[in-house]
Amino acid sequence: MSSQEFDAIIIGAGASGLFCAFHTALYGKQVLVLDHANKAGKKILMSGGGRCNFVNLHITPNEFVGQNRHFVKSALSRYGSEDFIKLVQKHGIAYHEKSHGELFCDESSKDILNMLLDECADAGVEIRLNTSIDGVVKDEQADRFVLSVCPKNAKPYRLGCRHLIIATGGLSIPTLGASGFGYQVATQFGHTIVPTEASLVPFTFTDKVGELARQLAGVSLDVIAFNDKASFALPMLFTHRGLSGPAMLQLSNYWQLGETIGVNLLPTHDVATLLVTAKKSHPKQLIRTVLSPYFPKKLLMALQELFWQAVAELELANIKDKQLKDIGRLINAWQIKPSGTEGYRVAEVTRGGVNTDEIKGKTMESKCCSGLYFIGEVLDVAGHLGGFNFMWAWASAYACSEAVGMDW
Ligand code: FDA
Repeated sequence: MSSQEFDAIIIGAGASGLFCAFHTALYGKQVLVLDHANKAGKKILMSGGGRCNFVNLHITPNEFVGQNRHFVKSALSRYGSEDFIKLVQKHGIAYHEKSHGELFCDESSKDILNMLLDECADAGVEIRLNTSIDGVVKDEQADRFVLSVCPKNAKPYRLGCRHLIIATGGLSIPTLGASGFGYQVATQFGHTIVPTEASLVPFTFTDKVGELARQLAGVSLDVIAFNDKASFALPMLFTHRGLSGPAMLQLSNYWQLGETIGVNLLPTHDVATLLVTAKKSHPKQLIRTVLSPYFPKKLLMALQELFWQAVAELELANIKDKQLKDIGRLINAWQIKPSGTEGYRVAEVTRGGVNTDEIKGKTMESKCCSGLYFIGEVLDVAGHLGGFNFMWAWASAYACSEAVGMDW
């Protein structure tokens, strides 16, 4: 078997892999990117509904979850949203802020992928697609890695490199090329893996909430979704499968199977006060009449069935204050228990991954094996919705490229 040598081999031609590739090559390094998929950057193309929410203007470490909440600080402090925006501007890509600092392409996600591929081409990066990796070993004496690779419909061959960078992403959306390969390599070289979970993902329900969601599929409202770890004031969407929308996706980053979540269905009002006050001013009204300005009719009737069916036809004057207050509390803090999530099939991100306590935060190099690096989503870092996951891909890739590029 023939063998070719590179300064750095990057496994994964996604967001972090492509970014790291050209930045490393700019230092004069010979860089090869391998990917088993037939196309580079498939997730970039799918992202942001086809418009790629490529960064957020308001990056803070608080927007990221992982066992070690401090890990992201170093990389984010050295490469921020303003740096990526400069790159986007250099390529003349038109973009806009949608809301909450989220930057999207005006035209298409393709612009971001083409920008990365153009930068790679200009820097002399070689990309080999349709290539799977059968094995990785470290030749300790020569301080190099040897990879056995197998291109589709061609003979296997070997590759050698001084720096091996794992940029294989998480497990979400297997049809876009996701695999557990990065975790396998990490384990092989002595790393531990923080258990992975589908995240930024809709919740499913097998109880009456599931039935309610099916009836209300398509209805959306502004809520506060919360649990004891986080809360998000954003829209929620009822679907045929359960509860989705930004509020639910964000909360999924902080949820474990078996836990209850809370939903404030009318965050603009204290509903207990609203009902007790209405009882005094309009004692002949029904509860649904008081609440009708705040909910679409379909939802209001469903809430009635859920929360005040027994007193639905009673005038407020005939309902005790305590009962009105209890109904108000149910609406302001609806407690529900998801049976699960829609899983990796639709999840935007994977929570968990390579344990960041075993990775150097400044360079992304493994503390277990010198010359081995992990970047992007394969690490135990998951961002909030809103461009934070790409920000992590760019920042972690940048940190790694600086270290590899300057290592002579
Ligand atoms: P990424 O998944 O981009 O790349 C991994 C690469 O490794 C892939 O090309 C894959 O084929 C390759 N690979 C995997 N296993 C391999 C193996 N065994 N051998 C060889 N190659 C292998 N984030 C955000 O900030 N804004 C947004 O708008 C969106 N939108 C969005 C939409 C959808 C539908 C999804 C699924 C995700 C998003 N995200 C997002 C999240 C974002 O896409 C994600 O966090 C980054 O792409 C992660 O970048 P990585 O480089 O780590 O992995």
